[in-house]
Amino acid sequence: MTNILVTGGAGYIGSHVCKALKDAGYTPVTFDNFSHGHEWAVRWGPFFYGDLQNAEDLNNAFSQYRPSAVIHLAGSIHLRESIEDPYKHYFNNVVGSLSLLKAMVKHGVSSLVFSSSAAIYAPPETLPISEEYRKAPINPYGKTKWMTEQIFEDFHRAHGLNAVSLRYFNAAGADPDGDLGEAHNPETHLIPRLIFTAQKKQESFTIYNDKLPTKDGTAVRDYVHVSDLAQAHVLSLKWLEKHQRPNAFNLGTGTGYSVREVLTKIEEISGQTINTLIENRSFEEPPILVADSRKAQEELKWTPTYSDLTQIVETAWQWHSSPILAKI
Ligand SMILES: NC(=O)c1ccc[n+]([C@@H]2O[C@H](COP(=O)([O-])OP(=O)(O)OC[C@H]3O[C@@H](n4cnc5c(N)ncnc54)[C@H](O)[C@@H]3O)[C@@H](O)[C@H]2O)c1
Repeated sequence: MTNILVTGGAGYIGSHVCKALKDAGYTPVTFDNFSHGHEWAVRWGPFFYGDLQNAEDLNNAFSQYRPSAVIHLAGSIHLRESIEDPYKHYFNNVVGSLSLLKAMVKHGVSSLVFSSSAAIYAPPETLPISEEYRKAPINPYGKTKWMTEQIFEDFHRAHGLNAVSLRYFNAAGADPDGDLGEAHNPETHLIPRLIFTAQKKQESFTIYNDKLPTKDGTAVRDYVHVSDLAQAHVLSLKWLEKHQRPNAFNLGTGTGYSVREVLTKIEEISGQTINTLIENRSFEEPPILVADSRKAQEELKWTPTYSDLTQIVETAWQWHSSPILAKI
């Protein structure tokens, strides 16, 4: 069995990636410091407790498991927090990635799949957004992802590193078998926050902007099911095994849903009414982000199978209502 080192494997997307790797015949070795991950989410292979900033942790993980490739998901993920605390984000995401790259070079591992983001693109003037669209991130979070992608180019020239950057749009939903799901703290993502309101864990849901130039004034995003994202990582590894060169792919569905449309879908599936408040904040955000993912479909042979909004919300609702989550 081939070992794959998965940084951030105890997190939301990483744990789904580990499950998909195991199903595809790989052994996922989770490398995580549990800053935001969970012990219960590490179920599909060995665990190595370590921090990206700690060279010794990385060297020990590479020596012990001799992975053939790395999937790098570990990082700080909160876009708004990155504006308030840029140091934390640059340090964890950029310096952390550099530290990982140094260990990869030292241990002769040249294949990498990286969690990048739609946040690297300039606010779109045309839609959908393809991989060639101008890169001009508008917040530190997006900048950390774009800087890291650029660092890969230099490591490719200097050391033969081959990185596939997967630019996710909005990850959502939960494992259809009910084994895994989203458990961020704090939770900033739309669907779980709406579900908490439907479950009456919070009184109301605040819509931050309803004056955007969109169909109903609320932000439109491209939601992609986390199990479809996980599958794209497996396909990227196989693509790297065959082609051994760098690449980048958008991962989304090409269909955008507004905050109000998602809210209505959650009301429909839960049978509950969601109380809303409106608070128009001056936070710079693109009104609409929708991916052109044809390149991933053509080159990786990626076919999203769970990503229609009904399946996303049904699996998320199932996860957030499950007794497993109540126990953890
Ligand atoms: N969730 C989304 O919609 C989305 C969209 C685009 C990109 N991404 C990227 O995908 C990746 C995974 O996102 P997620 O939603 O699963 O986040 P998450 O917070 O659930 O998972 C991140 C994991 O990384 C670990 N980690 C963080 N810093 C670490 C360090 N220094 N050393 C070791 N482990 C560390 C955390 O403990 C956690 O388990 C991130 O890189 C994120 O930026 C996510």
